[in-house]
Amino acid sequence: MIAIKIILLLFLLHQSVKSEDNEKAKYRLNGNLIPSKYEIELTVMDNFGSKGQFYGNVKIHFNTTVETSEITLHSDKLKFEPTNIQISFDPPQNSIAVSNVNFNTTLQMVTIKTQAPLSLNNSYVLSVNNYEGILDLDMSGFYRSSYKNAQGESEWIAVTQFQPSSARRAFPCFDEPQYKAKFDIIMNHPENYHAVSNAEIKSIDGSAKLKKTTFKTSPIMSTYVVAFAVTKFAGMTASINNIKHTIWSSIETIRDSQYALSISPKLLKVMENFTNVPYTISGLTKLDQFSIPDFSAGAMENWGMVTYRETAVLWNPYEYSTQNKERVGTVVAHELSHMLFGNLVTTKWWSSTWLNEGFATFFEYFSLAEIEKDWELDLQFILEEHQPVLISDCLEKAKPLTNPDVFTSGDVSAMFGTTTYSKGGSVIRMMSLFLGEKTFYAGLNAYLEDRKFNYSVPEDLFSKIQEKVDSSNHLPEKLSVIMNSWTEKHGFPMITVKKSDNDLILSQTQFFTNVTPPTKWYIPVTYTTSDEKKFSDLKARIWMLPNEPETIISNGWKSQTNWIILNIGVSAFVRVNYDDTLWTGLQQALKKEHFDGITPINRAQIVDDAMNLARASIITYERAFNVISFLQKDTDYYPWYSAFRTFAYLRRRIDRESPLGKILDKYIQRMTGALYKSVDFSNNRVRHVDMLKKVLTLTWACQLGVSDCVSQSQTLFNNLMSNNKVIDPNLRSVVYCTAVRSTNKNDNWEYLWKKLEGSKMASESVTIISALGCTKNADILRRYLNESIKENGVIRRQDGQSVFKAVISGSPQGVTIGLNF
Ligand SMILES: *[C@@H]1O[C@H](CO)[C@@H](O)[C@H](O)[C@H]1NC(C)=O
Ligand SMILES: *[C@@H]1O[C@H](CO)[C@@H](O)[C@H](O)[C@H]1NC(C)=O
Ligand SMILES: *[C@@H]1O[C@H](CO)[C@@H](O)[C@H](O)[C@H]1NC(C)=O
Ligand SMILES: *[C@@H]1O[C@H](CO)[C@@H](O)[C@H](O)[C@H]1NC(C)=O
Ligand SMILES: *[C@@H]1O[C@H](CO)[C@@H](O)[C@H](O)[C@H]1NC(C)=O
Ligand SMILES: *[C@@H]1O[C@H](CO)[C@@H](O)[C@H](O)[C@H]1NC(C)=O
Repeated sequence: MIAIKIILLLFLLHQSVKSEDNEKAKYRLNGNLIPSKYEIELTVMDNFGSKGQFYGNVKIHFNTTVETSEITLHSDKLKFEPTNIQISFDPPQNSIAVSNVNFNTTLQMVTIKTQAPLSLNNSYVLSVNNYEGILDLDMSGFYRSSYKNAQGESEWIAVTQFQPSSARRAFPCFDEPQYKAKFDIIMNHPENYHAVSNAEIKSIDGSAKLKKTTFKTSPIMSTYVVAFAVTKFAGMTASINNIKHTIWSSIETIRDSQYALSISPKLLKVMENFTNVPYTISGLTKLDQFSIPDFSAGAMENWGMVTYRETAVLWNPYEYSTQNKERVGTVVAHELSHMLFGNLVTTKWWSSTWLNEGFATFFEYFSLAEIEKDWELDLQFILEEHQPVLISDCLEKAKPLTNPDVFTSGDVSAMFGTTTYSKGGSVIRMMSLFLGEKTFYAGLNAYLEDRKFNYSVPEDLFSKIQEKVDSSNHLPEKLSVIMNSWTEKHGFPMITVKKSDNDLILSQTQFFTNVTPPTKWYIPVTYTTSDEKKFSDLKARIWMLPNEPETIISNGWKSQTNWIILNIGVSAFVRVNYDDTLWTGLQQALKKEHFDGITPINRAQIVDDAMNLARASIITYERAFNVISFLQKDTDYYPWYSAFRTFAYLRRRIDRESPLGKILDKYIQRMTGALYKSVDFSNNRVRHVDMLKKVLTLTWACQLGVSDCVSQSQTLFNNLMSNNKVIDPNLRSVVYCTAVRSTNKNDNWEYLWKKLEGSKMASESVTIISALGCTKNADILRRYLNESIKENGVIRRQDGQSVFKAVISGSPQGVTIGLNF
């Protein structure tokens, strides 16, 4: 699953259970019964749009590991009674009588008691016939949603979102990832609809009132990747490398699926090239992907049937931005890498969700990089994953990547956060760099082969890679010992570098949080000096060890040396601090021509470290601002992206109308002078990353009130309103927001609101929703918030949170209005 990066702090209210561990253990299955196969037949009636229920029959084949007269499995919001249940030996013989059925809605479990015990080491089959479930509107389980067709009429779809804990809302099941099984699925549905599931269609029978679509047997897989959909969508198909790829979307939007369709076969091939394990190991010969109008996550990797929000899969060059294209590319890459990391090999329990999501986040960038070679995704990874998670992971309340404290479905949902995705991906990247590509990928192949169609724990990963490690890797310890120092504790080290004559002395402490006893790490250290200026080799040159108070680079400093940079290419998950002499050396070097050869990503790293060390009161802001003063002459994307994030933090903390706030804004404006001159409002084609830079720069300039930026935006907006002159999709977010912000009249807001009402294109809607929050008019903001929770209003259910986010981030007064609301 790919999460939607919205204010998770506010919305992921973590329902922690504050009781004893044995009480929490009740949320877990007891392992007495091991399922091997499900036969599921679901029926969706003609009127599912108005009624919203479905009916099901399920047969679960399972083995016993103990003698027991209790069958406990998951079931949530499903209705059935003892008379709906049948239990017998497998293959069926006389049935075993049921004495009692007890639903526990807190645990989302049902316990079925039998009159005679089931014997040890035997095979049984449990049937639940004609149970009733709800096709809810809440985007979870087997749910329904609607969209408007070209004629403006509502069309309904029924589709699933099970991860992490909602398969139990569609059929009774052993709903934990380790209980893998095969699935035989049959869908009965109205005849003008089409049904799709994980596996290929075996047959379609149209002879009865409802159409019956029968699917082939699925691969052995976890319940949370089971999926099915009943829609009137159109499909666009390409058969490549013996795999039939189809993207499904509404008839109105299907033409925008071309880009996703073109990269999907290549992405599967890239993953095969990396790991030497093909997609077809699943036994599947097809891959369906769905663009869903109402979708709670960003996308979901169901095996053979991936689902997406429209904005994560649809794109065309005329109406969507460069950023939209990168979003589609990275989300598709993320989901398709899950076919191996997540679906073929699955985390045993959600405690180590990073085994799924960390890898998918890593490949989101590094597999797409093989196709979109000039997008610099290896460097973008650092800006978008590595640097942001350093900010949350240093806090005391941060959780370790491998978190033993996960029991309830609330605990499980909370695992789908920044740590799992971004720190998971960053720590995997660090491991790939210190191992080197050859060992890393040979190890991943061994891991996938060993654990295929089964679950895994972190030790499986480390021990299989260990088999491929040799003396050329120069590891100071067993891989698992090294990696556990990163995965089993929260936080990360700050390396402090001191010069002592010709030597450099490194020491480590935990950044920002103090824990006792102090956490220490095995740190792979990369560096270069002004003598070498060698920024390309990201393999560790030395290791810092937990039991060494100091690590010495002897004779690392020559008489002619001016500076040293540690952690080049942001290779390790650390921050770096220097002594005064070394900071001053760096500060002076960055002021030289061409920044004395220090590359853009290393400048980004210095900005991010210096400003965050100041934030933590480790160095002074005076020092930090001196270090980053080179930005005045810098027009590169990477250092500025990092700088803007640190400036955004300061602007959130300082009242913008106060004297200090005004000084800060003036300062940022002055610093961005050269940067602003390097971009323009034209729709000239530029390099991918330069387009990202342009949008970022204009967004900041207009927000700071740079008059040229504001007036150019207003001109473009007026031309749109009065002459219908189309604005370059890349510029729309800046122009719309500026137009709404820079006037007290409501015309611009009302114009965009109308446009939103008529919008058929998800990405345009997202842009407008965000811009509407830029107004300073309090009445309009309150009305806007009201609209976000209206049933059948202009704002789709999936976008309600985005309205809230737009309001609280659009202006300082929006925060109060949002919180009051
Ligand atoms: C459900 O299980 C919890 C935890 O064991 C228990 O406290 C609660 O009483 C149960 N509820 C019902 C209705 O059995
Ligand atoms: C149950 O089956 C397992 C695996 O087949 C076997 O190791 C175990 O000895 C069996 N137990 C009994 C009591 O038969
Ligand atoms: C279940 O038990 C039967 C023997 O009763 C055995 O043949 C089969 O392999 C077992 N299946 C699983 C998944 O353990
Ligand atoms: C996969 O590897 C083969 C052989 O090295 C190469 O020819 C092909 O271009 C690669 N495919 C992709 C999509 O990277
Ligand atoms: C899955 O892995 C476990 C633990 O290694 C092993 O006991 C089990 O037999 C495996 N299951 C299958 C179906 O291979
Ligand atoms: C928002 O909705 C509430 C409750 O329906 C209503 O009292 C209030 O007047 C509305 N505010 C605006 C600005 O529309």
